[in-house]
Amino acid sequence: MKKISDRIFYVGVNDTDKVQFEGLWPLPYGVSYNSYLVVDEKVALIDTVECGFEEEFISNIEEAIADRHIDYLVVNHMEPDHSSLIEYVMQRYPGLMIVANARTVPMLKGYHGTPEEKIMVMAEGKRLSLGSCSLSFHMIPMVHWPETMVTWLDEEGTVFSGDAFGTFGAVQGDVVDDEDTFAQYRDEMIRYYSNIVGKYGNPVQSALKKLSGLDVKRICSTHGPVWEHNVDSVVSLYDRLSRYEVEKGVCIVYGSMYGNTAAAADALAMELEAAGVPYCIHDLAGNNSGELGISGALRDVFKYDTIVVGSPTYNNGIFPPVETFMKALQARLIKGRRFYAFGSYTWAGASVRQLNEMASSMGFVLLGEGMSFAQAYSREKCDMAALAEILK
Ligand SMILES: Cc1cc2nc3c(=O)[nH]c(=O)nc-3n(C[C@H](O)[C@H](O)[C@H](O)COP(=O)(O)O)c2cc1C
Ligand SMILES: [Fe+2]
Ligand SMILES: [Fe+2]
Repeated sequence: MKKISDRIFYVGVNDTDKVQFEGLWPLPYGVSYNSYLVVDEKVALIDTVECGFEEEFISNIEEAIADRHIDYLVVNHMEPDHSSLIEYVMQRYPGLMIVANARTVPMLKGYHGTPEEKIMVMAEGKRLSLGSCSLSFHMIPMVHWPETMVTWLDEEGTVFSGDAFGTFGAVQGDVVDDEDTFAQYRDEMIRYYSNIVGKYGNPVQSALKKLSGLDVKRICSTHGPVWEHNVDSVVSLYDRLSRYEVEKGVCIVYGSMYGNTAAAADALAMELEAAGVPYCIHDLAGNNSGELGISGALRDVFKYDTIVVGSPTYNNGIFPPVETFMKALQARLIKGRRFYAFGSYTWAGASVRQLNEMASSMGFVLLGEGMSFAQAYSREKCDMAALAEILK
């Protein structure tokens, strides 16, 4: 338990055991499931945590309120990393009422069989008094599920923002940020956004517009630190990401079975290095353990304006992990990027043409027809120095 203010207590937990978030995204620095208590004449709990942390969660709550009762459980978001302990909390605090919006009701019933008489349905902007302060509720659909809302505590300038402004990475020490915290989490925040929320740029923009009317002094999201000293940086990063804004640089993403396409990728990286072009390189085939794979590749697609993709030809098509990456770009509605493809084949190349077709369908600017080369990579087959000039 951490005290955030006279009224607000952090009662969330760190998960440093989970290997992949949503069964997909690696967690080298863990993740936190944040939950908060607002303690006044009435006590409100905002969201719960992932199942498996029952004891730690309840012990955090009891440390904050001892044997006081919880009056309300506010459900901002029904994804199970925040909602899976709802039933557990209801059993523990039998008088408790669930506070949620209309779209949440069928999900509460479907996941937990919550009876309707235990749910207080809140409309947009509705207030719930806790005594000396009150909570109000604002819908932010599709950030990141359709039922998602944020809870605003006006007296403290605090938004309980759900997954919005969240980040991978367990929380250390005080939970509340200091001046350096944003720089420490920035990469993991971009990776979280690109992996989890990346498809919903427009809904995030609508949510930001709604929040811009509020004087936000503190952001309490469901993952990562509480933001007090970096509110502007965090909001402006989400603004940039949801507008798909990027800086100049090259994101090389490739997969390779036998190392030929990989050799071409490495050669290009060396030329970009020599030319002083900012770049990153991601192997999707999992040859190098410890790499972030598609998760890291998506992060850097949200950073850089140029995507260079390498795939061998595989059964007249694109190598499956690379195809998955291209589909992940389509799913995230990535736009406004420059694109170039390369890859090895043995008897009839097809991957480069198909990569170009997928890139064109997303409106990317093709920087050339690509390099489809037979068998082994060589400088003669692929002039990576010339390509680096084009990519500058
Ligand atoms: C399962 C499998 C399917 C393949 N399908 C094709 C194909 O349809 N057309 C082709 O020209 N080469 C095909 N190849 C050959 C590879 O494209 C070739 O070995 C290439 O050099 C592999 O590049 P890499 O070293 O980057 O993995 C296939 C290879 C494998 C193992
Ligand atoms: Fe979520
Ligand atoms: Fe979440």
